[in-house]
Amino acid sequence: MIPREIIDEIVFRNDIVEVVGSYVTLKRAGSNFSGLCPFHNEKTPSFTVFPATKSCYCFGCGSGGDVITFIMRTENLDYVEALEFLAARAGITIPEDNSQNVSSVSRKRIYAMNLEAAKFFRSCLLDKDIGAEALEYLCEKRKLSMLTVKRFGLGYSPNDFGMLTNHLKRLGYTDEEMTVGFLAGRSQKTGRPYDYFRNRVIFPIIDTAGNIVAFGGRIMDDSKPKYLNTSDTPAFKKSRHLFALNFARKKCEEQMILCEGYMDVIALHEAGFENAVATLGTAITSEQARIFAKYTKKVVICYDSDDAGQNATQKAIRLLGEVGVDVRILKLSGAKDPDEYIKKFGADSFRRVLGESKSGFDYGVDKIISSRDISLVEEKVKAAGEVCALIARVYSRVERDIYIRRASELLSVSAESLASDVERMRRRIEREEKSEQSKEAMLSIKHIGDRVNNDAAKNIRATANEESILGLMLMLDEIRAEAAKGELISAEDFVTDFGRRVFMALCELEVSEAGFSKAMLGQYFTVDEMGRIERLEMERRMLARNDREVFISCVNGLKKEVKSAEESDPFSDLKRKQDELKKRKNKNN
Ligand code: UTP
Ligand code: MN
Repeated sequence: MIPREIIDEIVFRNDIVEVVGSYVTLKRAGSNFSGLCPFHNEKTPSFTVFPATKSCYCFGCGSGGDVITFIMRTENLDYVEALEFLAARAGITIPEDNSQNVSSVSRKRIYAMNLEAAKFFRSCLLDKDIGAEALEYLCEKRKLSMLTVKRFGLGYSPNDFGMLTNHLKRLGYTDEEMTVGFLAGRSQKTGRPYDYFRNRVIFPIIDTAGNIVAFGGRIMDDSKPKYLNTSDTPAFKKSRHLFALNFARKKCEEQMILCEGYMDVIALHEAGFENAVATLGTAITSEQARIFAKYTKKVVICYDSDDAGQNATQKAIRLLGEVGVDVRILKLSGAKDPDEYIKKFGADSFRRVLGESKSGFDYGVDKIISSRDISLVEEKVKAAGEVCALIARVYSRVERDIYIRRASELLSVSAESLASDVERMRRRIEREEKSEQSKEAMLSIKHIGDRVNNDAAKNIRATANEESILGLMLMLDEIRAEAAKGELISAEDFVTDFGRRVFMALCELEVSEAGFSKAMLGQYFTVDEMGRIERLEMERRMLARNDREVFISCVNGLKKEVKSAEESDPFSDLKRKQDELKKRKNKNN
């Protein structure tokens, strides 16, 4: 961990107005600055920089935080990487990791070690005595050219427990570095490291800066597991990387292709589709969705045609839609994945179907229609109902009209009758939304679909108290110090998971040796959460009274809320526990 003084120094020497100003055109607005938010599309500026608190916040999308959070988001870095980025910008040197830490292995060492490992794997692949079978697998069975094999840096890990670890040891890498870096496992009996990848073809994963961050290894027959992958290390977070982005980023302005597997990507690149990338064995994450938004306007999802692939498609449509990229879906027929498709039907055929990829709407409608036999009247009525429900959720009227016309063709039902069904559903949705809103009045509105604090809606008044408590703790040193003693309030008093985590982080920093610094919060929270924390403090600052008395009354308010919720709610934890106890007693009697 980087020492606190250095972190404070980094924040001090990177003026937030200057840093943000190098990404966003800022205009002075009173004592603050404002500009168009770099994190969502907007036409009128709602992104504000507050020099006094060294922070920023977007009133449109809720992103915000300090200069570290800003860089984490714009440069897509994690907390430590963002600190390194800003340190370099200000010419500050971060002292080398001190080894008292449990995992003291630095990212740079892992990068260097991975590079050596990749060279080793490649030389094994090209060694006739060791890698002939693997090379045949890649070039004959998987039909890759030598050029592609070299371009992607493919390799082979020999069928041996010690060749790589011995090689790395000779180069000066320690057992710890090899195990932390996921190139070696550790024998349970002897504690000695052994090669993690054995008898597999190796796919290096390279980040956009050219570092080898991880490896995937495929077995060459039908044994399991088919792939082994590097787990998260200090140099690698699976959820933040896309395979082949290092190549694709140069060819992706207009569109990118998202597929499932390493082999799909490689086959696509070989066939001339150099804008293809893959998520690494997991469903797409929101972090990866943001990477797409940063690099391209349009993503064609081309997942496997099996059920798993199609379910993953739904999630990808949603996450990519949320970050504002234009989503298209390509469902292949006649082949299970793009690799197989290209082998069977060729690149030209793939280019043609790529051009015919569907919008999310058409994909949804197709799914509805293909799951029903619409030659039967009843089934057709149901399908029409489902399609109308889909259209009713579309916000823009023009878009709805277009979809209604498409649906009318597909279902051969008149557009007028579909339109009137859609409008009826829309009115109902609007009514429902309105009545729900009036229930919990103003407070609840901001928590509908709250993705950062997803328990907020459970107890709106308790959440409001929590927010005030945390806002005051962020704002006022003496209140934070008193709260951290744990006498007035403790973590168990919090209702929402998010509130509790913020409280615990504030207390932990407060009582730590180095003491509290807001700049250190970024290590505990995601950038979205940091935006929310910024809002908590900002909202408090805008209020006239912020002092101990207000704090105490919010604490009491929170405790009262919790108590009355427990009394009135038969399903509350406390009640449930009591009931269980009673039951157990009865049984025993
Ligand atoms: P697939 O099974 O579709 O693999 O898994 P593939 O890329 O088409 O492989 P081939 O064509 O059979 O060689 C898709 C992706 O899921 C991850 C890998 O990233 C793979 O590329 N995966 C799959 C694993 O991580 N582990 C596994 O055991 C299987
Ligand atoms: Mn495949």
